[in-house]
Amino acid sequence: MGNTRRRRQSPKATGKSRDDRGQPTSQRPADQLRAVTHLPETASSADRTAQRDVTSTEWMVRLRIRRQDGPERVETRRWEEFAVRASPGVTIAGALGAIAASPVTTTGVRVAPIAWDAKSCEVDCGACALLVNGQPHVACSTLLATVARGSRPITLEPLGKFPLVRDLVVDRGSIPDALRQLRTWIEADSGQPNVTNVARAPGVERLRVELGRCTGCGACLEACPQYGAHSDYVGAAAINRARFAILDATGGLAHRARVERLMVAGGVADCGKAERCVEVCPQGIPLVDSLQVLGQETSRELIFGWLLGPSS
Ligand code: SF4
Ligand code: FES
Repeated sequence: MGNTRRRRQSPKATGKSRDDRGQPTSQRPADQLRAVTHLPETASSADRTAQRDVTSTEWMVRLRIRRQDGPERVETRRWEEFAVRASPGVTIAGALGAIAASPVTTTGVRVAPIAWDAKSCEVDCGACALLVNGQPHVACSTLLATVARGSRPITLEPLGKFPLVRDLVVDRGSIPDALRQLRTWIEADSGQPNVTNVARAPGVERLRVELGRCTGCGACLEACPQYGAHSDYVGAAAINRARFAILDATGGLAHRARVERLMVAGGVADCGKAERCVEVCPQGIPLVDSLQVLGQETSRELIFGWLLGPSS
């Protein structure tokens, strides 16, 4: 079965969004993108000027943000709404930065700053993954313009398949756990000389670069109906990483051992073939191909593995 679904273009392939001065929009200083509220009586004259300054290339966007003060503080779960000035290059991360600079709701209430995660703001760490209008995205590559819904506010929520830390921050520790379970690391010392000089099939390195773009954002896991507290399924990100390791000259020496780890409960056979992972991956990684390739390898190992004896 080929992967025929339309894939979201990789931000790395398209280049990061930049403003008209060539500055990445995710790094736009907060004072260039000011949160604008329904101004209270006490608003400063500077705030009133900012609200008047909305130009024809800008528009107001309302963001409705799910908040909770801590994992156990269920009684603090609430929605708060903010308004920011948007323009074509502004991302969700830019809007959150603007709100952080002035955390005042549309009803004029100053609130505690919103907790959200971001490390690089370069679409390469996955830390800023969250739900936008119920769908997983990374904040630093998602333009407000692409998720706007007319007069309805854009909703932001934490990923739901991972334990909540606070507001939009979740604990994605289950992702490295799955990588360890599948032995996706590559040994520094293979114990065999010159292994990196092994002739590679044409295109293998290019494919490895494609597979290796995973940031561990967890969007694929969030979207997968098989992944979650109800199952042991390790998910597409770890299985893709196992394929990445197998395709390495050194990592490939433990090829059969890696495939065997995919044959236990929670392995590749638990994939329900919904193919939601590949639709939401912000890096455009061919996840369904990885699931299919390793699914076929586990079938082969199941049928013929006994002829080869135990793996290393
Ligand atoms: S495979 Fe894609 S969606 Fe899944 S964790 Fe990696 S980058 Fe995120
Ligand atoms: S902060 Fe968005 S991917 Fe790193």
